[in-house]
Amino acid sequence: MPEARSKTEKVVELCKRRGIIFPAAEIYGGIAGFFEYGPVGVRIKRKLIEDWRKFFVESEENIYEIEGCLILPDKVFEASGHLEHFVDPLTQCKSCKAMFRADNLIEESTGKFVEGLPPEELTKILREERISCPKCGGELSDVKMFNLLLKTEVGPAGGEKASLRPETAQNIFLNFKRIYQSMRAKLPFGVAQVGKSFRNEISPRQFLVRLREFTQCEIEMFVDPRKVNECEGFERVKDVSIRLYTAEAQRKGEREMEIKVGEAVEKGLIPNKWMGYFMAKEFLWFLSLGIPREALRFRQMLPEETPHYSKGNFDLEIEFEFGFKECVGNAYRSDYDLRRHSQFSGEELAVVTPEGEKIIPHVIEPSFGVERPFLAILYHCFVEDKERGWNWLALPPKISPFIAGVFPLVSKDGLPEKAKEVYKMLKESGFDVVYDEKGSIGKRYARIDEIGVPLAITIDYQTLQDDTVTVRDRDTTKQVRVKILELKDIFQRVVDKNSTKDIF
Ligand code: ATP
Ligand code: GLY
Repeated sequence: MPEARSKTEKVVELCKRRGIIFPAAEIYGGIAGFFEYGPVGVRIKRKLIEDWRKFFVESEENIYEIEGCLILPDKVFEASGHLEHFVDPLTQCKSCKAMFRADNLIEESTGKFVEGLPPEELTKILREERISCPKCGGELSDVKMFNLLLKTEVGPAGGEKASLRPETAQNIFLNFKRIYQSMRAKLPFGVAQVGKSFRNEISPRQFLVRLREFTQCEIEMFVDPRKVNECEGFERVKDVSIRLYTAEAQRKGEREMEIKVGEAVEKGLIPNKWMGYFMAKEFLWFLSLGIPREALRFRQMLPEETPHYSKGNFDLEIEFEFGFKECVGNAYRSDYDLRRHSQFSGEELAVVTPEGEKIIPHVIEPSFGVERPFLAILYHCFVEDKERGWNWLALPPKISPFIAGVFPLVSKDGLPEKAKEVYKMLKESGFDVVYDEKGSIGKRYARIDEIGVPLAITIDYQTLQDDTVTVRDRDTTKQVRVKILELKDIFQRVVDKNSTKDIF
């Protein structure tokens, strides 16, 4: 295999080789924009989602989780505005027929930010800048808008027109009344959902960044519009310092600012306390996942790129080798969705306040993708280590695929039997451990380092004498000798603290 060049390419290569991510339908040549999780990747993804759920849903008293359908009738998307507005500018090469997102192509060729410009203006820029097909140099067509909904039909013989949902949010709006009534909910309350979303992206690329099938973790927080600044949790996070890149700074060509969330809300840079609350939590969460703070920022969306339903967006962006990419969208969706669904369905979607008034709640929406953060974590945790002789992932223990590898030093003299005993004891106690007796101990360390396992337990000849084992730290390669009976306690401390620091 040729030596991978960039860090991203090395991460991609690791993902394929070590069971993290595979291209979908690879034996048939693959299908652009679709990837699948392998046995190691699925463990990381599951833990990442579980940690999200714990941090953003379970920690709150009033956020309810649902699981909705992936396919919904097109009437839903007519009301939501996706049939009309969910479009990207498309240009096609007249020679090789390759398709491109015109705004991305212009940005990459000229550095000009052109997202949200109408197709005629994009065509004009393509011509003025003499941009041709990046694949074959051919002439590009005029730009036209392309709808990203993945369409299907339900039922035999051209049944009802339907689409795969482009965001998990819509099921939440559709079920709003049922949730409100069945949970006897009171404003403010939130509804969360984790699941797949689909977009027929024009040019999927950058590995997991632009996919056609991806996972979202979304919360729609329903609030009384007059009480968007009544957020109980805000006091707890107001001193969290975040990196904010305002629309004004972008226009003036200035940099991000470091600012406390409380101050940003006071100065009107963030529209309300609910939005500030989620943004502060997001910043803390990504720090706990191993993303350095310099690689994190909230970018205020410029008016021309703000989605049709939003009164203001802040994207949490993470820096990759190819620049900052949105990983979480924070939108102030106002009453747009409930109002539209109410109009289109004829169903009353207002609530009655304790004061007896009928109102349509406003919505603050933190919308997380899973695959972009997943890739960002792998990228930022990837350590290129010449000294050690292999590259490895410094994954935080809470999302590492296993907490420890269990190894007999050699596969003879009763060591494998003893190691299996230890392995079984740990597994039965509920810890994710992996057993390996193949190859030299160095190779086995390398294999678990590569997939981000924080600890390695080695059973050696001394173990047979005194029931002690060595515990090796992935990050420092330091080792300590401990009693087998202490292992469960050590593992629990590592899990609880999300760190191995106080063990070594
Ligand atoms: P972009 O401008 O990069 O296309 P977006 O503004 O369309 O992103 P949102 O609609 O705000 O993204 O979606 C919310 C989140 O869902 C994003 O922050 C991202 O993590 C994820 N997401 C959206 N589109 C994709 C995609 N095509 N592939 C992977 N993840 C995606
Ligand atoms: N729910 C926001 C989005 O996916 O765009």
